[in-house]
Order: sequence, then C-alpha cells, then structure tokens
Amino acid sequence: MSEDNHLPGNNDGGSLFRLTRRSFLSKTSLFLASLGALSLESALNYASSANSGDFSFAFIEGVHLSSGIPDNVKLLAESQLFLQNALKTVSEQSVDFVLFGGDQVESPGRDDTFWQLFIDVVQVLNCPWYFVFGEQDITGAAPVDRMRTYGPDLKGRGMEPKDGGPECYWSLDPVPGVHLVGLDSARANSNAGFIKQAQLDWLKKDLRENKGKLTIAVSHHPLLPPPPYDSGPPWEEFIVEQGAQVREVLGASRDVRLVLSGHVGINKIQKERDIWYVSCPSLTVYPCQFKIFRVKSDGILVETYQITYEALVKKAKRELSSSRVAFQYSSRKPLSFLKVVEGEELDRNVFLPFAPGALPLKAPKKKKAPKQKASKTSTEKKKPSSASPQKTNNKPQTAPVDSAGNGIEKLNVPAETGKETGNN
Ligand SMILES: [Fe+2]
Repeated sequence: MSEDNHLPGNNDGGSLFRLTRRSFLSKTSLFLASLGALSLESALNYASSANSGDFSFAFIEGVHLSSGIPDNVKLLAESQLFLQNALKTVSEQSVDFVLFGGDQVESPGRDDTFWQLFIDVVQVLNCPWYFVFGEQDITGAAPVDRMRTYGPDLKGRGMEPKDGGPECYWSLDPVPGVHLVGLDSARANSNAGFIKQAQLDWLKKDLRENKGKLTIAVSHHPLLPPPPYDSGPPWEEFIVEQGAQVREVLGASRDVRLVLSGHVGINKIQKERDIWYVSCPSLTVYPCQFKIFRVKSDGILVETYQITYEALVKKAKRELSSSRVAFQYSSRKPLSFLKVVEGEELDRNVFLPFAPGALPLKAPKKKKAPKQKASKTSTEKKKPSSASPQKTNNKPQTAPVDSAGNGIEKLNVPAETGKETGNN
C-alpha cells in the first residue's frame, strides 16, 4: 500500500514515524476537511497516540490443538496440521509478533501433553509470540490451574500475570511506543466470558500508566458482540457479561485503537468511540482463517488468510453447515449461517483509519510477487498460496469466512437437527 493513500507521518529513515503537531496539521488538513465534523482536539488525540513506527502482527484464534480427539465442527484431528500451515504463512510474512487469541488447545491434555505439543510446534516462529486464555485452555478432565500449567510460558514470554490470579491478565510493549493488553475472560466449562472488577480496576490503572502509546487490547470473548451474538438468548451465552463496562474503560482512553476477539468465529469489524473491534475466525472451524494486521501511522491494514488445504476447508464447511448453531441461526436455511461467519469483504481485507469518524476503506490490491503463480482461494477452485491474503469472494460457498468454534462447540446438537459441535 502506498503511503500516499493514507494519513501523514514522516517516515524517519523508514523506521519511526515522528508526527509533530505542525506536520500532522499540514499534512492532514485536506483529509480532515473531507471528514467534516472532526474537531481539532480529536485529531490531535489521534496524532498523540500515533507515535509508533510501522509494525505488523498475526492474530490466530481457536487452534484447539489436540491429539486423538475426533473431528466435530472443529477439525481437531487436523489441528496440528492447521497450526503448522498457518505458522508457515506467518513466517513468510515476517511479522513482528504473533498473538494467539485463546483456545490454543482443546484442553491442556493429560500431563499437559497438548500444551507441550503447542509449545513444540510454535518453535518454528522467528518472532515473539503471546497468548490470552480461552475457556478450552482451562477446561479439562480435572481442574486446570492456569499458573501451574501455563505460568512458565507466561513469564517466559514477558506476560507477567497481574494481581496474583487466578485470572492471568497482562500488558507489555511488543514494539516501542505500542502497548498490548491481554485480558483474561475465560472461565472453565463456560461458554460465557467473565471479567471481575479487579481486572477492570487493573485495566484502568494500566491504561493510565501507559498514556501516549498506541494501544491494542485482546480478549478471547467478544467485548462488542458481532451479530447474531448481540441479540440476546440464546446467543448471549457466548459473550462477556461485563463487555459494556470493559468497553467503557477502553473507550475512555485516547490511546486504544484496536480490540481483538475470537470465540464466536464471526468475521466482523465494528467501531465504537473510534476503537475498531475486530471479531476473528477460528483456525480449525470453517472458514479456517487467521488475520495479519499491518499498523501504519494513520490506520491498520487487515488481511485475512485461509488454511491452504482445500479439501479440509470443504470438510470444515460441511461440518459447520450441519451444526446445531447453523440450525439455531435458521432452521429453514442453515446454510445462511455460512455467510454470517464469512463476513463481508470489509470484514476481511480492509484498511481501518485512525482518524475520528472515518469509515473502513477497501484494502488496496496487493501486487503479485514476482516468480510466484497467482493464487486463488479454495472457493475459486485453486489452492491459494500460503503467502497471499484471502481474496475477496462473494460466493458464500467458497468465500473466506471466520469460523467461530466457541459458540458452536458447546451446543449439544440434537441428532435430528445437526451434528454435534465443538467449542472454539
Ligand atoms: Fe472459546
């Protein structure tokens, strides 16, 4: 993407954007004028938090890594294959860090075998990686102690848990001038997320102590539920009960620009108080996708990638089509749920401006890499390159979609309505 397409910033040696009040005002005047009712104050607030350099990161959610567990709506038997496939693409894209959005494993496994396998597989990454908890990470045959199972890997990655637990929420600066907040919304054996007052208090304090940094927050459960999970029973079972309170804290900050979530597997981007809320798909539930975020001085380019195993993506699609959640969405037209999880193109490949009041912009077409055959999505009948973002495809049966394993998984599907689903 050309820098000319975006809001200003002086690219200082190609590394750091150093936005001064003067350069910001001069270079953005035309753009701001086009937005109409933007105040000078809000524009400067944007500038104050856009003081980091360009960086990129991958967000992978709902890996559900396991071994010896048969497929349901989640392709558990193929979970290791899917993770390795995604990490290959991520490594090719040379991101600055990888963020796992919860449900890394279907459970830690006996003697934490699944989690140890996860640790082994991600060793291929050539960048730092971080994670938050989903309910599957802390649900097992026996009670799962977060710190006993995950403590060494939390601290080993710089994610020092706050307030002594049992919830493990943390914050760190993955690159200079950027603040990353990992919330812990997971409860064992529960589809619903929960955030206690102590975590809210810590969040307020943490944001106050890190003013001026471009801030990204992540929670496994959606704080701003995407449709249909915003429509009350039975969908509300899968959201964070305190979502509104958390959004109030995040929205009061001038630095928070992006909030990521998974769990429900819906490809959806929403905006509230100039914060972009991005609901992301699961890796092992159709449409078997993950995202890469490329953060610029003026906004965020979102790219959605799909697992490159066409036959397995089709299998995942069949599983979701016959799942209980699809029939719950529409008993007469369960296939219509596929389009919901796939989202629109502006939910998958899009530029999200930081400017107050700005709308999402269609992502520019990427130049084809030399000496590389053009790739198409699985829906376009050809196997996509692992290094190419999922192209727009309006055909429901083939379009890239987010898969929300979480909401699906814990629904016990009646035999007469559909197959059993699995949690994300
Ligand atoms: Fe989940």
